[in-house]
Amino acid sequence: MKRILPVACALLCALVPSQARKTQKFTHETVQLPAVERQIISVQTENTSLVLLVHENGALQTVHYGTRLPNPEEYLALDTSSEDYNGDKGATYPATGGRYVGEPALHVKYADGSHNTELYYTGHEVSTKDGVVTTTIRLRDYVTGLRVRLLYEAYEKQDVIASHAEILNPGEKTVELVQAASSSLYVDADEYLLTHFWGAWAADMQLEREVLGHDMKVIESRRGTQATQGNNPSFLLSLNTREFSETTGEVIAGALAWSGNFRISFEKDNGHRLNIVSGISPHASAYPLAPQGIFETPRMLYTWSDQGAGGASRNLHRWARKYGVYGGGTVNPTLLNSWEGAYFNFTTETLLRMMDDAAGMGLEMFVLDDGWFGNDYPRNSDNAGLGDWEVNVKKLPEGIDYLAQYAHGKGLKFGIWIEPEMVNPDSNLAHEHPEWVVQSPGREIYQGRNQWVLDLSNPAVQDFVFGIFDRTMQLAPHIDYIKWDCNRVVQSFGSPYLGAEQDRFYVDYTQGLYKVMRRIREKYPHVIVQCCSSGGGRVDYGALAYCNEVWTSDNTDGLSRVFMQYATNLIYPACIMGSHVSAVPNHQTGNVTPLKFRFDLACSGRLGMELQPRNLTPAERALAERCIGSYYQYRDLVFSGDVYRLADPYDGSYYGLMYVSEDRSRAVVFTYCIRFESRSVGGKAFRLQGLDPERTYRVTEQNVDRSCWWGNEKAFSGKFLASGSFNPVLSQMYSSAVFYLEAE
Ligand code: GLA
Repeated sequence: MKRILPVACALLCALVPSQARKTQKFTHETVQLPAVERQIISVQTENTSLVLLVHENGALQTVHYGTRLPNPEEYLALDTSSEDYNGDKGATYPATGGRYVGEPALHVKYADGSHNTELYYTGHEVSTKDGVVTTTIRLRDYVTGLRVRLLYEAYEKQDVIASHAEILNPGEKTVELVQAASSSLYVDADEYLLTHFWGAWAADMQLEREVLGHDMKVIESRRGTQATQGNNPSFLLSLNTREFSETTGEVIAGALAWSGNFRISFEKDNGHRLNIVSGISPHASAYPLAPQGIFETPRMLYTWSDQGAGGASRNLHRWARKYGVYGGGTVNPTLLNSWEGAYFNFTTETLLRMMDDAAGMGLEMFVLDDGWFGNDYPRNSDNAGLGDWEVNVKKLPEGIDYLAQYAHGKGLKFGIWIEPEMVNPDSNLAHEHPEWVVQSPGREIYQGRNQWVLDLSNPAVQDFVFGIFDRTMQLAPHIDYIKWDCNRVVQSFGSPYLGAEQDRFYVDYTQGLYKVMRRIREKYPHVIVQCCSSGGGRVDYGALAYCNEVWTSDNTDGLSRVFMQYATNLIYPACIMGSHVSAVPNHQTGNVTPLKFRFDLACSGRLGMELQPRNLTPAERALAERCIGSYYQYRDLVFSGDVYRLADPYDGSYYGLMYVSEDRSRAVVFTYCIRFESRSVGGKAFRLQGLDPERTYRVTEQNVDRSCWWGNEKAFSGKFLASGSFNPVLSQMYSSAVFYLEAE
C-alpha cells in the first residue's frame, strides 16, 4: 500500500496538468450585470468637452473629445444598438478580454491564470479643490471583483484635462498588472497627423511628423533612466488634415507625467476612430498587485485647441506654469556654468576668476559643475569618484563654503552639480555597497560613461540619494541651485533588493526617485533644481513637478539648438528651457555660428553661458554684456508670456517665435535665418501674432547698433504688425534679430 500511493498520486498529477485547471470552474453560467441608468458624464473646460456615455449594461464609451458642447446630453440619443457601438468600440478604459481585441489600457493576469477583464460602470463622483474639478468614475469586473477608478482633473482656464487610473485588487490573491495604462482616449477624425519627438545624446527632441495609417504606431521608452532621450512621452495630433498648421485647425496635445519607461500607442479601429493608450510601458513590468493593493498610474495630460499647434502649446504651457512645473512662471537666474569652460580641470582660483567674469558680464549665478568631489578616487575625469560626495581637498582646499561666500559677495547666487543616482566602479561606494548597484545575478554589469546605476527601488538607496542632496545643501550656508544629473540608461536591469519580484523594478525605480524628490521638496522648497540627464534625458512633466528647469541638451551649438528648442517648446514652456551660449566649435559639434546668433537664441529660453569668459575677445565680451543686459528687460515675457511661433525651421529657411504678456501690452520677437538666402530675396515677412490689433507698439531691436528692419524704433498698430509688414532683412545664413515691443 505504501508503494501504491505515490504511483497513484503521480498518475493523478499527470491527468491534471496545471494548477490553473484545478482552480478554474467551467460552467455555462454567466454573471448577471446589474442594469444602470443610461447617462452622460461630461468633463468640461472653458473651451473643451470630454463626453462619456454610460450604457444600460454599464459599459462606458468615450463619444467626444474636442470643442466644448453646450449640451453633451445630446449624446443620449446615440443609437447603441447600431453598429456604432457593440461593446468593443470606443470603450473608455478598454481591458483585455470580453469582446475587446484591440490595444488594452488594462491587462490583468489573475491568480488562476485567466486574462479576461470586462469593466462596467458602478458610479461616479465630482469634487472641486482649488478650482480643479475632479470626476472620479468607478468601474468593476463582475467576475473577479477587480475595481478601477478613472480620474479626470479638469483645469478649466487652461483647457487641460489630466487623466489617470487607479487599479484596486479587492481579491484574496495577488494579481499581475501586465499593462495598466493611465488613459485611453478615443478620437474620431478623417485624418490624423502625428508630431512626435525622438532623440539621442546631443540631438535631443528631434521632430518627426507622419500621417497615421491602420498599422499601430507606438512611441516607447525602455531605457529606465534617461527615458526621454530616445523618445519623449508627448505628441501633437492634428485632426482632419495631412498638413501641420501652427495657427489653424484642431490639434490635440498629450504629455505623460512619468520619468520612467513609457508607452503611447495609436491604433485605428476598423473604421477611422483612433485609440490613444498612454502610460507606463509594460516592458518587463507585470506588476504584482497584492490583495487590497491599489496601483496608481501617472497622469496623462491632454489639451485640445482649434487654433492649431500654437493654441495647443499655449494651453499646455499655461497649465505647466501654474500647476505642472515646480516654481513655474517665476523667473530663474541667468548663470555661468563651469562645465564647458573648465571641465574637470580647475582649482579654487580658476573658479573665482570665472565668478569675477560672470559678475562682470551681468550674470546672476555661478554653477560649479562636475569634478568637485572624490579624494580616494578623485573626480578628475568621468571614470572615477561618482558615489563619493566629499569635497576634493586637492582642487578645492578652501571648500565649497568659501566659493559660495565669494559668489554671494559678488552678488551672484551659487549652484552646484550632483549625480546622485550613479556610482563609478572606482569609488569607495561601489566597494562598500555592491548590492546597491542595478544588476542581474551572474551577468556582467555593463558600464555606461564608466558608471553603474544605483538601485532606487531599494529604500536604503533612496535614503542615500536623499542624503547626498541633503549633505550637498549643507556644504555652505546658502546653496541656491542644484543641477541634478543622470548620465546613463539602465542596462542588465535588476534589483538585488527586490528578490523574486523583479517585475517591480522599473516602476519602483521611478517611484523611488519621486519619493526622494518629495522629501527634497519638503525640506528644501526654495532651492532651484535643474533636471539634467546627459542634457534632455529627463524632460517630462513627472520630473518637472519637482524641478524648476531642465538642461535642454548637451549640444549648445546654435543651429542644432534651433531645432531642439523649437520642438521642446511645442510641449514644454520656455521657463524650463536651460539655454546656454558656449564656444564654437565645441565638443559637441563643429558648427561655427556667430556669437550674436548664439545669444539671440539662448535669450529665447533661460539664458546662461557655458564657456571660459577669459577666452572672449573684448568685442565678444562687449556683445555678451549687451545681450545679457537687454535680456532683463523682457525676460519675464520668456518666463510667463504666451508663445506664438512665427516660422517653422523644419519647413523653410527661418525660425521665429514671440512671447506676449498676458495683457498684450509687451512682447519680444526672436527671428533667425538658418539657411543661405540672398539679399535679392529681401526681408522675410513674419506675421506677428497675439498682439492687440487696435493698440500701437513701439518696436526696438536689441543687441545691435544698426537695425535690420526699417521700422525699428517706430510705432505701429498690432494689426499692421500682423499683416506681413514686419520683414527684417535676415539674408545671411545665421543672421538673427531680437525685437522688444511695448504698447504706447
Ligand atoms: C552631463 C551633463 C553636462 C555636464 C556633464 C558633467 O553630460 O549633461 O551638462 O554636467 O554631465 O559630467
